[in-house]
Amino acid sequence: MAEIGTDIAKSAKILREGGIVAIPTETVYGLAGNALDVDAIDQIFSIKNRPSHNPLIIHIGHRQQLLQYVKDIPAQAQILGQHFWPGPLTMILPRKPIIPDVVTSGLTTVAVRMPNHPLTLGLLQSIDFPLAAPSANPFGYISPTAAEHVAAQLGDRIPYILDGGPCTLGLESTIVSFQKDKPALLRYGAITPSEIEEVLGTAIDISTETSPSPLGPGMLPYHYAPGTSIRVVTDLKKSLLNCNEDRTGIIAFSRTHEEIPLTHQIVLSASADLDEAGKRLYHALRLMDKLDLDLILVERLPDQGLGLTMNDRLEKAAAKD
Ligand code: TXA
Ligand code: MG
Repeated sequence: MAEIGTDIAKSAKILREGGIVAIPTETVYGLAGNALDVDAIDQIFSIKNRPSHNPLIIHIGHRQQLLQYVKDIPAQAQILGQHFWPGPLTMILPRKPIIPDVVTSGLTTVAVRMPNHPLTLGLLQSIDFPLAAPSANPFGYISPTAAEHVAAQLGDRIPYILDGGPCTLGLESTIVSFQKDKPALLRYGAITPSEIEEVLGTAIDISTETSPSPLGPGMLPYHYAPGTSIRVVTDLKKSLLNCNEDRTGIIAFSRTHEEIPLTHQIVLSASADLDEAGKRLYHALRLMDKLDLDLILVERLPDQGLGLTMNDRLEKAAAKD
């Protein structure tokens, strides 16, 4: 069973020797290995049971390291890096040959981010290689937002979990690419498109639609799903009319519903705050999944800000059935 602790030196030692460590970030926990070591990358894919055509994000500890791994940084990427790093922004940039093919699934680009978590930044700054880290969940399941989530699912497959407490944002990073120097959003995330547009002063293309094209290799029709069936609904009250109240759980945005037992419901934010809801969503899905119900009804969030990110994840989770 993995040891859980806060020892940066121990994590660094395991990683230097080619091992795998779960690391905390502000978004979700990552399953990290030396991004320059093909064997470590192979282990990541096999521990997660992840298809090899789904490339990984590399994590760096200093902005200045970026040019060691990418050929060119478009002007808009410079601006976004200055503004959002360290933070929940991943940028797709042309890779240098030092990044192995297995990291990028053979693409000519690599996904890079500088995460904002004191333990992981300390770790990254104590090693001389970047960390490739997908979310630390079995492929297709919800991303972990606490060390215990990682321990429960992958604890028997890794030696160490660096425990940085619950993730402060709780939703994955926003992914932006620069095709022909024009920014495009590839994945909704913890930074909203309008925050990016505000910093750049221009509109950004949204190209996150489910597609088999290699532009967004992670854009699978389903993903992020719990084991129990989930349905995303706009009117919880109405949807509950057709459900067996003893076998149905609900995740509501801001208020409880008297139609079903209180033990089967979770309110994401009593004050209807999207940040708070975002931070709690994955944990709520995990808790509901444990109740072993037939169905989880999740109330669709407002289509604005982080609501867009949460609705994106929920639609993918619901598409599994
Ligand atoms: O918040 C996060 O981004 C977390 C933490 C651990 O940093 N990581 C994460 O990684 O969510 P993962 O592997 O679950 O998702 C990475 C996404 C995938 O959808 C993948 O297809 C996309 O990044 N990606 C990676 N490299 C890419 C590339 N060169 N071009 C386009 N998309 C890429
Ligand atoms: Mg993931």
